[in-house]
Amino acid sequence: MSKEEIKERIEKLKKEINYHRYLYHVFDRQEISDAALDSLKHELMTLEGLFPDLITSDSPSQRVGGRPLEKFRKVRHATPMLSLNDAFSEKELIEWETRVKKLVAGNRPALADFDYFAELKIDGFAISLVYEDGVLREGSTRGDGLVGEDVTESLKVIESVPLRLETDLREIGRHKETRMFLSGQPAIRKVFDHFPKVIEVRGEIYMSKRAFERVNAEQRRHGLPEFANPRNIAAGSVRQLDPKVTISRKLDFLAYDLVTDCGQSTHEEEHVLLKLFGFKTDEYAKRIRTLEEVHGFWKEIFQKRENLPYLIDGIVAQVNQGDVFERLGVIGKAPRGAVAYKFPAKEATTVVGDIIVQVGRTGVLTPVAVLKPVEIAGVTVSRATLHNMDEIKRLDIRRGDTVVVERAGDVIPQVTGVLKRLRPKGAQEFHMPTACPICGFPVVHKKGEVAYRCSNKSCAAVQREKLYHFVSKNAFDIQGLGPKIVDAFLDNGLIRDAADLFLLKEKDIEPLERFGEKSAANLFSAIQEKKKMSLNRFIYALGIQHVGEETAIDLAGTFGDVEKLKAAPLEELQKIRDIGEVVAKSIYDWFKNSSNSELLKKFRKIGLKIQNSKFKPQSQKLKGKIFVLTGELETMTRDEAKAKIRELGGDVSESVSKKTDHVIVGKEPGSKLEKANRLGIKTLSEKELLRVFG
Ligand code: IVH
Repeated sequence: MSKEEIKERIEKLKKEINYHRYLYHVFDRQEISDAALDSLKHELMTLEGLFPDLITSDSPSQRVGGRPLEKFRKVRHATPMLSLNDAFSEKELIEWETRVKKLVAGNRPALADFDYFAELKIDGFAISLVYEDGVLREGSTRGDGLVGEDVTESLKVIESVPLRLETDLREIGRHKETRMFLSGQPAIRKVFDHFPKVIEVRGEIYMSKRAFERVNAEQRRHGLPEFANPRNIAAGSVRQLDPKVTISRKLDFLAYDLVTDCGQSTHEEEHVLLKLFGFKTDEYAKRIRTLEEVHGFWKEIFQKRENLPYLIDGIVAQVNQGDVFERLGVIGKAPRGAVAYKFPAKEATTVVGDIIVQVGRTGVLTPVAVLKPVEIAGVTVSRATLHNMDEIKRLDIRRGDTVVVERAGDVIPQVTGVLKRLRPKGAQEFHMPTACPICGFPVVHKKGEVAYRCSNKSCAAVQREKLYHFVSKNAFDIQGLGPKIVDAFLDNGLIRDAADLFLLKEKDIEPLERFGEKSAANLFSAIQEKKKMSLNRFIYALGIQHVGEETAIDLAGTFGDVEKLKAAPLEELQKIRDIGEVVAKSIYDWFKNSSNSELLKKFRKIGLKIQNSKFKPQSQKLKGKIFVLTGELETMTRDEAKAKIRELGGDVSESVSKKTDHVIVGKEPGSKLEKANRLGIKTLSEKELLRVFG
C-alpha cells in the first residue's frame, strides 16, 4: 500500500472504530464482538506504526495514555464549575420551587411558566471537557470551581469520553437510533450547520459498582488494602500522573451539561445534543411538568437505585428553559434554578460489639467490625470491614466505640468515623492476633507491608472445606449452594463461617458473578429455609473430626439438645454405644474450643432453630439390631438403605465392632468386610437385605 492508501485506510478504520464506540457507550449495543473490534484497533495501530506522522490526537490508538507527568497543570475554567444546593425533603423541594417562582414572576408566581428537567445525581466527581474543532483538547477536574487540574491524559483512557465529537449529521445518521431520533427534532438539526469551534461539556466520572467490586476483589487477592468507595478510586485514578494505570480503564463518564451555546434553548435539548455528539447520557433523565412529578421521579429512582449499575445519591432537578435558568442566576456557588434532591442519609451511628478477623484465600487477615445491628436506608447492617491495620490506626477504632457507618448502595458498609467522646472507659486498642483464628498457626507481618498473613499455607483451604461440608447434602443440604458459591462468598468477604450464611441478604448475593435478581432471591430463601434444622444433621454439619452421620444421630438421640451435648463430660461421651475414646475426645475438645463456642453462640443469635425430632420408627422389626454398610448398593443409595433400617427400628453404625449384628455388603466393599470376617459377624448381600425389608 502507498502512504496515500494507508492514510485512507487509517481514516476509515478510525471512523469504524468510533462508530462502534458510539454504539456501545451511547446506545449500549454491540454489532461486532470485542475481539473483532480489538482486531480493527490492532490494524490501526500497525498502520500508524508505519507512519507515525499520520497519528492524530483523536485516534482511538491514543487511548493508551501518554507519558507520565511531573505534575498537573492548572486550568482556569472559562465558566465557573458550580455546585448544587441540596433539598433533603419534599418540604424543602417545595420551598425551592416557591423561591424560584417568586423570582421568575414576582408577586404573581402562579404566572411563572416553565417546566423541569430531572436526572440522576451520579456519585462520582465532576470534570470539564473542552473540544476544539470537535477534537478533545483539554479535560480538567473541578478543583475549587474556578481553577482545576489538567487531567487530559488520564481521561483519554476512558472509552466513554469521546476523543472527537460527532459533528457530521450524515455520520450520526449511520446509527439507526439517531436517525429515528433526529427525524423528530428539526431544531436540533440546525446546530450541525453552525457547529461552534470550541465546545465545553461537563459530566461525572464514576466507577460502576461491578468494576468497584472487581477492583477490590483483585486487591484482596493480592493482599492489598481495599478501597473504601467507588468515588475515591475514580478520583484517585484520574488524578494519576501516570495515565497508564490500568484502573482508569474501568472508569466511565456520563455527560450532563453542555456549557457552550450551540443553539439549544432547554436543558432537555442539551441532553439530546450530548447524545448525538457521542456522549453517554443518563437514560432516566426526562422533562417533567410539575413539582409533584419531580417528587414522583425521585421516589421512583429511590426504589430503583439499588439495581442501577452505579451509585447515585439523589436526583438533580432544574428549570428546563435555558433563559429562565440564566435569569435566576447564582447564589453563593450554586445556581438558583437547580436543586439536588438527595436520598435519605445513608449513615447511622452504632456500637462496635467486637472486632474480629477474617482470613482470606491468600491467608491475609482482614479485621471486621461486628456492629450492634442498625438500619441504614432500609437495610440492617451488622458488620463492616475495617480493611487493614492501617485503617484501624487511622480511625483509632476500638471495641465498644460508637461509630458512624455509611452504606453506599450495594457496596459493603464502611465505618467512616469514631465518636471518641462516647468511648467507654478503658476501651483497649485493637491488636492483630498473633495466632490465626482459623488454624492457630502464627501470624506474620513483614516490615513495610500493610498485610498480616497466616503462615499456614493450607489455612484458608481448611476453612473452605469446613464450609463445603456444612452445606453438603447430608448436612444442611442448601439447594443451589455448592463449593463454587461458597468460594464466591468467601472471596468477596461476605462470609467467614457457616453462621454468616444466614446473615446474607439478596442484595449481597446479587452482584456476584452468575447471579441475577431472581437467582439471588432463590438462594436467599433456600438458606433461610434451613434456619430450622434437625439436631443430628446440625451435629454432623459441624464437621467434628470422627463424627459422621451415624455418630451424629447417636449423639442427637442421647443428648437431645446442643447445650447438653456441649456440657457432657468426657466419661459420659465414652459411655455412648459405638463411641470410643478417640471419638469421645474429639467431640469433647471441639466443644471446649472457644472459637467453636463462639460459632454456636452465633447460630443461636441468628435464630437457628435446632429441633430434636426424636425419630420414631414405623415398626420394631429390626429393634436392637445394629447394621453396618460397606460397598455400593445397586437398587438404592446407602442413605436410602440406612433410612429404611431406621424406619424398621434398627440402628446403623459407621464402624464394625463386636456389637455389630449384620454387615451389608455391596459392590467393592472396603476394609469393613475384612473386619466383619475377622470378628465373625454375619454378612448380608443386598438381595438378602431387601428380603429383610420385605
Ligand atoms: S448539574 C451547577 N447534574 O453533583 C452544577 N451535577 O452537588 C452543575 N452531579 O459537582 C451540576 N450528577 O459533580 C449535575 N446529573 C447531574 C449530576 C451532578 C452528579 C454532581 C457534580 C456536581 C455535584 C453538585
